[in-house]
Amino acid sequence: MKKILVTGGLGYIGSHTVVELLSVGFDVVVIDNLNNSKEEVKARIEDIAGRNFELCIGDVNDAATLEALFVKHTFDGVIHFAAHKAVGESVDNPVMYYQNNVSGLISLLSTMEKHKVSNLIFSSSCTVYGAATDLPVTEKTLIQKAESPYGTTKILGEDIINDFAKHKEFKSILLRYFNPVGAHPSAKIGELPLGVPNNLVPYITQTAAGIREQLTVFGEDYNTEDGTCIRDYIHVVDLAKAHVKALTYCQDMSHNVDVFNVGTGKGNTVLEVIRAFEKVNGVKLNYKIGPRRGGDIEQIYADTSKVNALLGWSAQYDIADMMQHAWAWQQGLQD
Ligand code: NAD
Ligand code: UD1
Repeated sequence: MKKILVTGGLGYIGSHTVVELLSVGFDVVVIDNLNNSKEEVKARIEDIAGRNFELCIGDVNDAATLEALFVKHTFDGVIHFAAHKAVGESVDNPVMYYQNNVSGLISLLSTMEKHKVSNLIFSSSCTVYGAATDLPVTEKTLIQKAESPYGTTKILGEDIINDFAKHKEFKSILLRYFNPVGAHPSAKIGELPLGVPNNLVPYITQTAAGIREQLTVFGEDYNTEDGTCIRDYIHVVDLAKAHVKALTYCQDMSHNVDVFNVGTGKGNTVLEVIRAFEKVNGVKLNYKIGPRRGGDIEQIYADTSKVNALLGWSAQYDIADMMQHAWAWQQGLQD
């Protein structure tokens, strides 16, 4: 394997993955429409990796753009990040989500089929498990009807790939991410949330930076150790590295599709995350306890034995590293 197409490669997880791909010797071509990223991220990725890559500013829904890319390059694999990802926005604008996330995937698959390109790594999410009762969740845990159109696009994406791969010389790995957080240790790339963040860690760093006045902890009456929700937070660099492992595994596997949880296997409560942030950074966070947020599940964390054994991957960074790198990135943004 040599040349990889990365869709959405300037985004949060994509940019970290491109760094890892370049660092281990892959040639990379990125297609990104800059819908949720900035062109300057390209130079930052190249600076970290010490190598360049080709960027096509374009939309995966645009068949002509994809066709031109696949004519120009012979790809050995594709990593598909390009999608919208805001749960609340998907409730308000479901068509936009189905259009971008589902049609975008179909457009990509038909171009891959035409050019006989195999080996697709797909960004799925632990959201497919819904409010699972048996924890930790394994890849065999039942998939539940999604709570949002965003979640539905991930379940549909998995189904479409499974159907597509059935009768073809086509291989794909579905990676179900738990909660990606943190930033590159160099603080040159990280997450760029638009507007007021919905997710916990960007809200924490923006509060510490004085951009937000106060963080609200959504509920402390859950049936957990300290009453706050539990999630499996995974450092974005660890997650990026899982994609590199998945590519190698994908081309060698004897079956068409496989699925892996990508998390640390360890759950942290909201209060534990806050305390880890305060301790590692020596910063006091202004927060209060508020009511539960509608739609939140009490707890979820991954059984990672499959990804550990078959991909030979496990998370290296802990919650303190995640909070330290997230804060370094936030501080860099203000310079
Ligand atoms: P992101 O928004 O930072 O990155 C997505 C990138 O894709 C952006 O650069 C955006 O400009 C681009 N893009 C969007 N639609 C496009 C299109 N039609 N054509 C070309 N480019 C397009 O998001 P992220 O956090 O890096 O997420 C990457 C993938 O992982 C998404 O599929 C997302 O659903 C999935 N995922 C993310 C999380 C998370 O918490 N971040 C969790 C689970 C799954
Ligand atoms: C959300 C999405 C999920 C997506 C994930 C990662 C929903 C219902 N789910 O998950 O699909 O894959 O983001 O992008 O939106 N919290 C606070 N205060 C805040 C923000 C969050 O207490 O200001 C708490 C939440 O209640 C939750 C935890 O922090 O317990 C994590 O929240 P968040 O970062 O939004 O991720 P998820 O809700 O797990």
